Formats: sequence, C-alpha cells, structure tokens
Amino acid sequence: MANVIPPDASPTEKFEDLTWLFTCDSRNRGLIRQGFDEAALLWKAVKVSSGNILEVGRNFAGSTVLLAAAAANREVYSIDNRSHEDTACKNYLARPENKHRVHLLVTDSREPLPNLSFGLLFIDGDHSFEGVLADVLAHWMSLQPHGGNLALAAFHDALPNDNFKWRDADRRMNHFWTRVKNKFRKRQKPEVAPDYAPGVLRVCDELVRQGAAKKWRSASSMLVLQKLTDIPQHFDRTARENFQSQ
Ligand SMILES: C[S@@+](CC[C@H](N)C(=O)[O-])C[C@H]1O[C@@H](n2cnc3c(N)ncnc32)[C@H](O)[C@@H]1O
Repeated sequence: MANVIPPDASPTEKFEDLTWLFTCDSRNRGLIRQGFDEAALLWKAVKVSSGNILEVGRNFAGSTVLLAAAAANREVYSIDNRSHEDTACKNYLARPENKHRVHLLVTDSREPLPNLSFGLLFIDGDHSFEGVLADVLAHWMSLQPHGGNLALAAFHDALPNDNFKWRDADRRMNHFWTRVKNKFRKRQKPEVAPDYAPGVLRVCDELVRQGAAKKWRSASSMLVLQKLTDIPQHFDRTARENFQSQ
C-alpha cells in the first residue's frame, strides 16, 4: 500500500493524525484541491499556530473553508486574482460566525498586505519559480510567531509524491503515443503528468539553505516550513542564480 507511514504511538493522536489508515491521493480532491493527507497536515498547521492566516490561491475556496473551520475565531485573509468560489464554499464562509473574519480578497498575491501579520501562510497560487518567489518576498516579513506558537508556511505542490500514480498506472498506451509524438515535436510533452511543481520546491529549498526556515512536516506534495528568520539580504538574487545554474 503506497504512502503508509507506520503509526506513532502517541496517546494524544487525533483524527487528523490517522491519515495512514486511508488511501490518500488525487482522487480525494473535490472543492478543495488537495489529498486527504495534505488537508490533514494543513489542519494541523492551523492548530499549532495562532494569529491571522494568509492563504494565497483559493480557487473554489475549499481550502479557505478548511482554514476557517480549523481556525475558529481567527482572521483568515485569502487572496486570489479571480473570484471563482464554489457556491457551497461561499455560503459556508458567509455564515454569521465566519463572514466578519474571513476576507476574500481579489488581487495579485505578489503585492504585500500592509499593516497585517500572520501566524500561518498557505502558499498555493502561481506555482512557477518566479511566482512562488514573489509570494514569499511579498509575505515572509509579515509571518510572525504569535502567542509563543510556531510561525509556519505551508506550500502545496512542493514535493514529489504518488498523488497521480493510480491514474498513470493504466495509461501505458498514452505514454507510448506521447513518446512517439515527441519524436516529431519541437517542444516535447511529459509522458507522465507532473505531480509537483519544481519551482515551489526550489524556493522552499532556498529558504532552508539560507537559514530563513526549517522543515516542520510534510504529506504528499504539501511541505510545511517553520520560519526561523526574516529573508536574508540578496535572497532573491541568490535564489535566481542557484535556480538558473541547475
Ligand atoms: C491550485 S489553485 C488553489 C487551490 C486551493 N488552495 C485549494 O487547495 O483548493 C491556485 C489558485 O491561485 C490563483 N493564482 C495564481 N496566480 C495568482 C496570483 N499572482 N495572485 C493571486 N492568485 C493567483 C489561481 O487563480 C488559482 O485559483
């Protein structure tokens, strides 16, 4: 069975610690564009942090619902450059207990939100190297530990994973035809759809390499970093140089 992590014997385990009981992959995706284990890790990141939450990229707003549900009474700021929320999610977020504290912003995530600080960032917007780098540069400064808790940044699509293995298992003929067609193409297509975005991982690696963060936890493609320091000087220049040299 893929992705099964041996159970931890901790007596304080909660439902969200038991994802190893399930088969978790892209088939779990619905209004939230995450596997069950990824969403459980995001839930845990909310629970061990405090203060405001910033989401970059909400799409149908399934992840906004999850953040709002996990973070009762906390302010949730969600940025997307288009308003594309599913009606069920929108209705959930418009309930009296949510509507004054959940802020659905339609703007470019590369712009910082002035005068706000956050205990948790969830970055799931533009997955290109430059896109993630811009999001980190815009919001890392406003990520601060609150109430003695960890300051965490969760990145979706950051790690290689088995999310799409089930789908590709039955597509040997498709792979074969892609391989044949690639012989005649100027720009080759991947035989197997990518399961993560290398640009996201490169920015995360750079945060760790330059001492601004350390790994907290991961599940499938979701990587959660703990902030250690603000962005070092010349972070973006060094990150770009390293990205281009590899
Ligand atoms: C993968 S989806 C988010 C999925 C959602 N977090 C979930 O888990 O269900 C990415 C979203 O990022 C948004 N996005 C991409 N680039 C952006 C940018 N520069 N500023 C704001 N939103 C952006 C897209 O419109 C899209 O809705």
